[in-house]
Amino acid sequence: MRYQIAAANWKMNLSWDEADNLLTEVLSLTASVKESQRVVFAVPAPYLDMAVGHIADKFHMHVAAQNCHSKKSGAFTGEISVQMLNSVEVEYVIIGHSERREYFNESNQFLAEKIDIALEYGIKPIFCCGEALPIRESGGQNEFVSTQLQESLYHLSAEQVKQVVIAYEPIWAIGTGKTASSEQAQEMHAHIRSELAGKYGREIADQISILYGGSVKASNAKEIFHQPDVDGGLVGGASLVAEEFVAIINALK
Ligand code: PGA
Repeated sequence: MRYQIAAANWKMNLSWDEADNLLTEVLSLTASVKESQRVVFAVPAPYLDMAVGHIADKFHMHVAAQNCHSKKSGAFTGEISVQMLNSVEVEYVIIGHSERREYFNESNQFLAEKIDIALEYGIKPIFCCGEALPIRESGGQNEFVSTQLQESLYHLSAEQVKQVVIAYEPIWAIGTGKTASSEQAQEMHAHIRSELAGKYGREIADQISILYGGSVKASNAKEIFHQPDVDGGLVGGASLVAEEFVAIINALK
C-alpha cells in the first residue's frame, strides 16, 4: 500500500532519557496521522521496546529497527534477528542504509538475504538505495540505483515487493545539509518507479512508497514531499528535534 511516510532515523544518538523525552514531545505535538499516512521511528536497539510502548495507542505510528541480521538466530555475537524484532512488536526495519553499506561492507546480495528474512517474519523493510557524489557527477546515478534494486529486490514476488518501502538517499546529501533539489528527487523517484513498473507492472509500482532521504528539514520537506513520485522522507538529523520532525510530519501530502 502506498502510504505517505515520515520516518525518523535517529542513528546512534540519544540517551534513554533523551529518547523518552523526544518521543513524548513528538507525540504530544502531533495531531492525528491520516489514514493515508504513516509515521515511523527508527530508534537505537535498546530503545525499541520503549518506543513500542509510546506508540501503543497511536494510530498509524510504527517503530523500526535500524538494522537486522540475515539469519534467524545463532552464534552472531552482537547482532539482532528479525525474530527478536518480531517478538517485541517492531514492524519495520531499515535495510541497506548507506552507512551500513560503507562502514560494515554490506553488499547488495547480503541485503537481499536480509530483505527475505524480514519479509518472512512480517517485518516491512525500508530499503535504502542511492549514489555517491562521483557517480552523480559522472551521470551514472540511474544505472547505479537500478543495479541496487535489481540485486537486492528483484528476486521478490509482486506480493512481497509491495511490502517493501524504498528510500532513495543520495549519499552526498546525507548529513551534509546539501539536499537534492526537488527536481533531482522527482527525477530519481520517477526512475525507480518506472524500473519497478518494468519488472512488476505499473499497478504494483504505483503501490510502493518511495521516500526521499538526505538533509530533509522542516524548511524543505513540503517542496520535496509534494513531488508526484515522492511519498515522504527518511529523516536523520532533523528527526532529533521534536518541532522539526513534527513539521516534517505535517508536510506530508
Ligand atoms: P540526514 O540523514 O537527514 O541527517 O541527512 C538521513 C539518513 O541518513 O537517513
